Amino acid sequence: MTKLVNIKAMVKNAYKNKYAIPHININNLAWTKTALLAAEEFKSPIIISASYGATKYFGGYNVVYSVVNSMVSDLNITVPVALHFDHGSYEQCVKALEAGFSSVMYDGSHELFKVNYENTKELISLCKKYNASLEAEIGQIGGEEDGIISSGVIVSDTNEAIKMKELGVDALAVGIGNIHGKYPSTWKSLDFDTLEKINKDCKMPLVLHGGSGIPSEQIKKAIENGIAKVNVNTELQLVNAKAIKEFVLSGKIDQDKNFDPRKISNAGMEAVHKLLKEKFTEFGSINRIK
Ligand code: 13P
Repeated sequence: MTKLVNIKAMVKNAYKNKYAIPHININNLAWTKTALLAAEEFKSPIIISASYGATKYFGGYNVVYSVVNSMVSDLNITVPVALHFDHGSYEQCVKALEAGFSSVMYDGSHELFKVNYENTKELISLCKKYNASLEAEIGQIGGEEDGIISSGVIVSDTNEAIKMKELGVDALAVGIGNIHGKYPSTWKSLDFDTLEKINKDCKMPLVLHGGSGIPSEQIKKAIENGIAKVNVNTELQLVNAKAIKEFVLSGKIDQDKNFDPRKISNAGMEAVHKLLKEKFTEFGSINRIK
């Protein structure tokens, strides 16, 4: 029996009450457990997300589903948890839904809008069959994610946003100058004019990808203007790597039984847990579940 929920109610509620649901990409089993336990500790709804790269790393769609669904059950997680497939092609979204993912993001942003629109439409009907939710994307998010490199930032078009809303997508990822990965030192700001316009015209939950390294005031302003889901991965990966590096270079790795891979991983997970708390606080998602 699935313990997972889709993202429909969570993002609607977040949009209405001006906070954002944390979308946390899982990189391995320890990451999944850390994210789920943090969500439970801070009473935050959570979107656990796996990209195609992460899914391949885990061993496949069914493995990801089984791990996340079983963990929710065995760890007695009571807050709402969605399992979301991140940046899927049409075929990948179908496979994720068949395996039991409760939500998918179809990334048709590099297609012509007509193709993006038609594929989104078909996936919406498939999602209905599985009681799953669908996130679509318009514009283009810059940077690289799991080997998928975008040629640059293409700012979203409001007319396309309206058409996607009318199709009935549950959340819409917008390209507003956001980038996956590290932001270059020359990067100035999110494009709030475009965000405000899309929000005014669409009045629906919007999604900010590339949520790592954006100044806090900009995240908060984006949430005020319709962002109801923020995707974070790189920043968590960076604090994990830094903590493990310190564990090794300080010589801690040579003490007691610290050669145990679980202890090495725990050093990173403590840092991930700390940053998750900061992110949940920034997104306003703490204590949203009674
Ligand atoms: P970052 O890795 O830049 O945080 O972006 C994550 C993301 O948008 C996943 O879809």
